[in-house]
Amino acid sequence: MKRLQNISRTRLLFMSTLFCAASSLILCSVAFAPLAAAQTAQTNITGFWILKTPTGDGNFREMFLDLKQDGENVTGKVMFGPRREIPISDGTLRNGALHFIVTFGRPPQTRVVTYDGTVEGDKISLTSTFPGREPLKGIAERGDPKVMQPPARIPPPALHDVPDNGLARTPPMGWNSWNKFAGKVNDADVRGMADAMVSSGMKDAGYVYINIDDTWEGPRDASGNITSNLKFPDMKALADYVHSKGLKIGIYSSPGPKTCAGYEGSYGHEQQDANTYAAWGFDYLKYDWCSADQIYKNEDMQAVYQKMGDALLKTGRPIVFSLCQYGEEKVWTWGAKVSGNLWRTTGDINDTWKRMADIGFNQFDIAPYIRVGHWNDPDMLEIGNGGMTNDEYKTHMSLWSLLAAPLLAGNDLRTMSAETKEILTNGEVIAIDQDPDGKFAKRISDAAATAVVVTRPLHDGSLAVGLFNRDDQAQAVTVKWSDIGLTGKTIRARDLWKHADVPTSGDSYTATVPAHGAVLLKVTSAQQ
Ligand code: GLA
Repeated sequence: MKRLQNISRTRLLFMSTLFCAASSLILCSVAFAPLAAAQTAQTNITGFWILKTPTGDGNFREMFLDLKQDGENVTGKVMFGPRREIPISDGTLRNGALHFIVTFGRPPQTRVVTYDGTVEGDKISLTSTFPGREPLKGIAERGDPKVMQPPARIPPPALHDVPDNGLARTPPMGWNSWNKFAGKVNDADVRGMADAMVSSGMKDAGYVYINIDDTWEGPRDASGNITSNLKFPDMKALADYVHSKGLKIGIYSSPGPKTCAGYEGSYGHEQQDANTYAAWGFDYLKYDWCSADQIYKNEDMQAVYQKMGDALLKTGRPIVFSLCQYGEEKVWTWGAKVSGNLWRTTGDINDTWKRMADIGFNQFDIAPYIRVGHWNDPDMLEIGNGGMTNDEYKTHMSLWSLLAAPLLAGNDLRTMSAETKEILTNGEVIAIDQDPDGKFAKRISDAAATAVVVTRPLHDGSLAVGLFNRDDQAQAVTVKWSDIGLTGKTIRARDLWKHADVPTSGDSYTATVPAHGAVLLKVTSAQQ
């Protein structure tokens, strides 16, 4: 009914505009003054609103609006919680039509979202539009700002050392849904990825985990048990399916009340959730700080992660524990103490040369903190997602392998090209990543140089040597044997991308490396 009233009001206003255009100003204002007054009276939107946008999986994304209307001008902010606010710009309310713009993120990675809607009494139907994405329709209703307050702080436990869970003796290898699918991942995709992991040869190359990232979560049931949402009808059946392929399966949560995508987190339900994951048959948990920052300080991170480390151990099921708190609080110094098998060392990667190179070439200072069972995680792979050249993806794979980083493919395994498959399944490169000694890589070249030389000692006494070119043009990159401790020896070098031995003579080796490319060698020496 309200909607009908609104439509007829809009029609009347449209007619009034036509009428006004075709008649004198006086006649117009006399004829439509009552309508204009009614409109103004009905559309004062000053106040606090809760915008709920259906995510299509049974959940709603929540955003809060604090609006101030002054005539046709609308100012204010959008909020995701206390102190998490962004001012709106370009705000107008004309004839019941609301419009404003929100700029998310920081330059150069900003995202400008336009909001347009209609005010219908105490409801605003609001559509958000971001270029290249489907517009999202939500409804805002008036509410109490108190709803934004996070739940009361549960004091974190006293610190103790959680026993090593004995897992991930080499860096975990698998697939994760986030980089390619983000919020769109569903049961069918995950099953398809498990199928493709086997049929593509990735399983044979060592990839094991099929990891579901954020947006699988539904609400909690009456007993507080976490459920999955409409995209994932039966988590136990899905885990059984993945296991039937000889693979393992991973899940995602947050120590905060909400995950980074705004879904249900594990706050106050840590042991209950760990038990649920174990009962469903999960083998891996990525635990992402996200909204925990509304409750805890960064100094609490170790204790907060320890709580889940203990909870996972208590389930009795072997579950790899992946910490995701973007490298805050020098996590590499305490990640192993909470039974963490891997810990993110940075913010999110994306499918660009700049971001991948910024992350990958800046991991050497903290490289010494890795050890068997406990790995630095410079984030998941972007190989095959289309934003980089194959040379750049080879650099990505070479660098991650030298760093003993987890190899979690982030592309669509069902449709990957032959080149992508070749990069991801290069057994000689993977062997560097998976070297059983877990020794760390060193950068030999100057930090500022565009010709980068990296070495890593391997179990069989040989050395992995990466020759990288960060420049935009091909250049010669040289490794001097004396720089990597190989003076006076007979050197044998194998190019792991060419799968061929390369001739060596003299006291160095020089390769012409393409722009943003890599040459990865395995170098063995014998006394003369
Ligand atoms: C954070 C993490 C990402 C991904 C998303 C999911 O940004 O760093 O890897 O898990 O959350 O919301």
